[in-house]
Amino acid sequence: MVYPMKVVSRLSVRCNNMLLVMLIHTILQLSVTAQKNLTPFGIASQSTVYGGTLSNPNNAILPPISNDFDLNICSHTKDGIDPSADWWMFQFSFELAYITDITIYYRTEFAYRMDGFKIYVTNTSAIPPNGYLCYEDSDPGLPNITQNIPCYELGKYVIYYDATGDELYGPVVELCYVAINGEITFEYTMCMHISHNYRT
Ligand SMILES: *[C@@H]1O[C@H](CO)[C@@H](O)[C@H](O)[C@H]1NC(C)=O
Ligand SMILES: *[C@@H]1O[C@H](CO)[C@@H](O)[C@H](O)[C@H]1NC(C)=O
Repeated sequence: MVYPMKVVSRLSVRCNNMLLVMLIHTILQLSVTAQKNLTPFGIASQSTVYGGTLSNPNNAILPPISNDFDLNICSHTKDGIDPSADWWMFQFSFELAYITDITIYYRTEFAYRMDGFKIYVTNTSAIPPNGYLCYEDSDPGLPNITQNIPCYELGKYVIYYDATGDELYGPVVELCYVAINGEITFEYTMCMHISHNYRT
């Protein structure tokens, strides 16, 4: 959600009110307990889309929570379009989130396409990613297609980045499910509440 500049500046004045801070703090703690996976609060995009309305990047943030592959339920970038790198990106609809960990379900039997992948948390949508590298698959051997990656970092974007191609098609990203666990940052929740008051 983007608010007009005038509204934003009025909000920042109201956000300094200490009584309000205490009030909203309670609300935040309740909402964090109720909601750990933050992917309902944003949208996904990817470098290319394999098949029209199929293989949509948002398939990866919707159930089923599984490695089973189908173009209707997984994301899939085009084969061999950009030989340098493919990526999948999640953007929070609010300013910042504190990300604790990321869970990935990659396409079953395609670990070789996941080989060498990287996960970043960033504050910009720049590609190649410019931010905090949470994890890089650098071990010899293929990665586990189901991974939980700790990453204690504040950011606005989570980027799955793969510059390691298979021999035939170059880099391809096929994510069947991604959960991004963490907390909406305190300050933002406070301002969300105030903006809600302004609008009602
Ligand atoms: C994003 O910005 C916040 C606030 O300035 C900062 O604390 C955080 O470290 C930044 N995250 C990254 C990945 O650069
Ligand atoms: C792969 O990850 C899953 C889920 O975390 C785990 O149950 C399984 O044992 C792992 N397999 C290997 C070979 O590490």
